[in-house]
Amino acid sequence: DGFGAERLFNQGYSYTYDDVIFLPHYIDFPTDAVQLSTRLSRNIPLSIPCVSSPMDTVTESHMAAAMAALGGIGIVHYNLPTPDQALLVRSAKSRRVPLLSNPVFRGPHSRIADEFDGDDKPPLVLVTESGGNGSKLLGYVLKSDWQGLGDKEVKLVDYMRSDSGVCVPWSYDLEKIDSCLDSQGRDFVGLEEEGGEVVDVVTREDVERVKSYPKLGKGTVGPDGRWMVGAAVGTRESDKERLEHLVKAGINVVVLDSSQGNSIYQIEMIKYVKRTYPELDVVGGNVVTMSQAQNLIQAGVDGLRVGMGSGSICTTQEVCAVGRGQATAVYKVATIAAQSGVPVIADGGISNSGHIVKALVLGASTVMMGSFLAGSTEAPGAYEYQNGRRVKKYRGMGSLEAMTKGSDQRYLGDTAKLKIAQGVVGAVADKGSILKFVPYTMQAVKQGFQDLGASSLESAHNLLRSSTLRLEARTGAAQVEGGVHGLVSYVKKSF
Ligand code: XMP
Repeated sequence: DGFGAERLFNQGYSYTYDDVIFLPHYIDFPTDAVQLSTRLSRNIPLSIPCVSSPMDTVTESHMAAAMAALGGIGIVHYNLPTPDQALLVRSAKSRRVPLLSNPVFRGPHSRIADEFDGDDKPPLVLVTESGGNGSKLLGYVLKSDWQGLGDKEVKLVDYMRSDSGVCVPWSYDLEKIDSCLDSQGRDFVGLEEEGGEVVDVVTREDVERVKSYPKLGKGTVGPDGRWMVGAAVGTRESDKERLEHLVKAGINVVVLDSSQGNSIYQIEMIKYVKRTYPELDVVGGNVVTMSQAQNLIQAGVDGLRVGMGSGSICTTQEVCAVGRGQATAVYKVATIAAQSGVPVIADGGISNSGHIVKALVLGASTVMMGSFLAGSTEAPGAYEYQNGRRVKKYRGMGSLEAMTKGSDQRYLGDTAKLKIAQGVVGAVADKGSILKFVPYTMQAVKQGFQDLGASSLESAHNLLRSSTLRLEARTGAAQVEGGVHGLVSYVKKSF
């Protein structure tokens, strides 16, 4: 019944996720027995197969810390100057719990008015020796202490509270921090490292928020006890210097970002990274064919990013006439990558949990998502209201707007002078925190695996390769039937 994957994907068609459907198999275990643990790349183990995309409307420090807290990983984008990108990496890694606050550190002689005058100013400023984080705490000033103060020239030091008990060790987890806040009757605590340098602040509000979400596991923690964080770079000469800064900031994996990764530039960069930083995993791509993948595997990549033009904001297939349906691309690349033990990241085109099941079963080890995560509280940018809906901006890194900010090297060759957009700018609906909706999504993915009789990614891949799992292409009508249809909208009456 149905087709084995090898037969289905060798008929000359380019299939997207929606084009294919699995036939159910045999269930002999409960949903919770399904294990989604996996690897991003050769040496980066993850407990959930989720990666946030290196886009400037998706992954900065809040997203990277929250993805790691969930057991996935975030890849910090590089559409910004090197020191700023390194700062985002450091800030994600200095977080113990996935918070949304941006703690403010200042020196004792800063003017109070500069820190608190205005609605968008923080409720609290930490005063440190150096004026930045990672230095000794001298005290703190609360906005409420300052409000109503007439004298604009007053310095932080004049209103600073010194309180030696305000810091707890950086290694405290959420429960410990929570009980400290309770027992000491505080609204916030500072987190300090072993040498006494304060690096972060946790407020009661943060703790209450995180506690209301499904319980977090251990997360993706590196050997140094900090979140694992990835970063993207390009393949220009200047990217070598960028990479040096990022390595100093502590990245665990680098993603070489290109829409067509099978190039002399990327192959040289892969070899350079492996030569210069043998401990650092390098992800290459993007690729969609077996021969592209083979070239990058030979050059030494530790992971392959798959997808060309399948992203929700992509216009590459229309502008350049190249690309591949994402289901076919993932299956083909994973087939060759599996022979060398290189994990595949299915990048783009994920808009529901079914797409994640399809990507993983077709051979991917993880999915990389942009639009799926962009409307979350952890994504960069503020919410706006459009036609009565709360939305966040989401834009392609090949859109003119993003390229104007510098992301052109992903989409243009080194010498291109005329900018041609390969992406668009849009908005996505508010989805709340990823700490809430990603665990629900993973539960749905587990149910999909259970229906297929696959208790892990490895067992799914084995079932697929042995053609035990059967698939079919869906006709247009079958796709309509598989979605919600035939309903009129139901307006609930209120009494
Ligand atoms: P989703 O579907 O998750 O896709 O929103 C995210 C992925 O899309 C790629 N990307 C682009 N592709 N033009 C493109 O052709 C663009 O402007 C663009 N921006 C991002 C990228 O691989 C990302 O992870």
